[in-house]
Amino acid sequence: MMVLVKIWQIFLLYEMKFNLEDYDNIAVGYWLTRGEPDKMVQELLKKLNNKTVILFQTQGAELNSEHSITAFARAASYLGENCKVLGTFASQGKINPAMLERRKNADKNDPHAATPRNLERWQKASIHPNEEDFSRAKEFVKSMQRKIALREKYLNMKK
Ligand SMILES: Cc1cc2nc3c(=O)[nH]c(=O)nc-3n(C[C@H](O)[C@H](O)[C@H](O)COP(=O)(O)O)c2cc1C
Repeated sequence: MMVLVKIWQIFLLYEMKFNLEDYDNIAVGYWLTRGEPDKMVQELLKKLNNKTVILFQTQGAELNSEHSITAFARAASYLGENCKVLGTFASQGKINPAMLERRKNADKNDPHAATPRNLERWQKASIHPNEEDFSRAKEFVKSMQRKIALREKYLNMKK
């Protein structure tokens, strides 16, 4: 997992080479597990107060699926006080093949069972992120930079 701070500075969360107080705008990247951010990122989100936050997640689920959107809501629910979510970005990513192998034995009523629909989704996820995801990500960063600039202009006008 990764934390992207102030758009052009990238830090790995587990290295802890950053001081949150130095930044107003913080982009937090994470992988989805059990429909929410991984535990280390949950702890980070709880520590954010008075920040503008961008969430980006990698997931096995399809883009814009209910699962994906709910996961963003769950991520936001971990945030500390007075944070604003500026934007969200998702990309599918490969699901650990060892875990998929275990899922092949799951009961057919289990939502994670190897049904034809799930097999197709896992196959699709396995070839992401791809070039299209990377270019979507670049566009997303640009649009977030524009939003931050607009927001700062608006906040300065109100002063
Ligand atoms: C233990 C485990 C649980 C997962 N749970 C979810 C989940 O609830 N929802 C989902 O969309 N993807 C889930 N995934 C898929 C991961 O989110 C996906 O493999 C990851 O985002 C790929 O990111 P990476 O390319 O950075 O490793 C799970 C994967 C593992 C290994």
